[in-house]
Amino acid sequence: KKIVVLNGINLNMFGKRDPQQYGTVTLSEIDEQCKKLGKELGIEVTCFQTNHEGDMVERIHRAHKENVDGVIINAGAWTHYSYGIMDALGILSVPIVEVHMSHVHAREEFRHFSVIAPLAKGQITGFGVNSYLLGIRAIVDLINFN
Ligand code: DQA
Repeated sequence: KKIVVLNGINLNMFGKRDPQQYGTVTLSEIDEQCKKLGKELGIEVTCFQTNHEGDMVERIHRAHKENVDGVIINAGAWTHYSYGIMDALGILSVPIVEVHMSHVHAREEFRHFSVIAPLAKGQITGFGVNSYLLGIRAIVDLINFN
């Protein structure tokens, strides 16, 4: 079984941007922890980040073509407005889990709304790197027990 962990716009700057919201962990450390947990849970984890919306859309298409078993996505600011990312995720029939480092519902109003949430099995927001790790645990259970 294999899943992809997708990170969108500006998320390569974790560790450098707004440590109050996002802490000091870097994206490569997040990727490493995701892969380590994947190994423990017996699932192959591939990580991808881009700042380009079309590249993310094509990466989601590729996930479809490669028949991945699940998708974890932190779409960054795209979460709140990208119908392109939303439609691409809508092509998938495997479980999707939306994750965020910060607690989006405790922040500015525009971050409370997610155009991708209706396509996801659930949303994990506010736990820093643990949002990703909890997301992986959730998706592995969805894959194994559904
Ligand atoms: C984020 C939350 C988004 O609102 C924001 O635009 C980001 C990061 C998070 O992980 O907390 O870039 O997705």
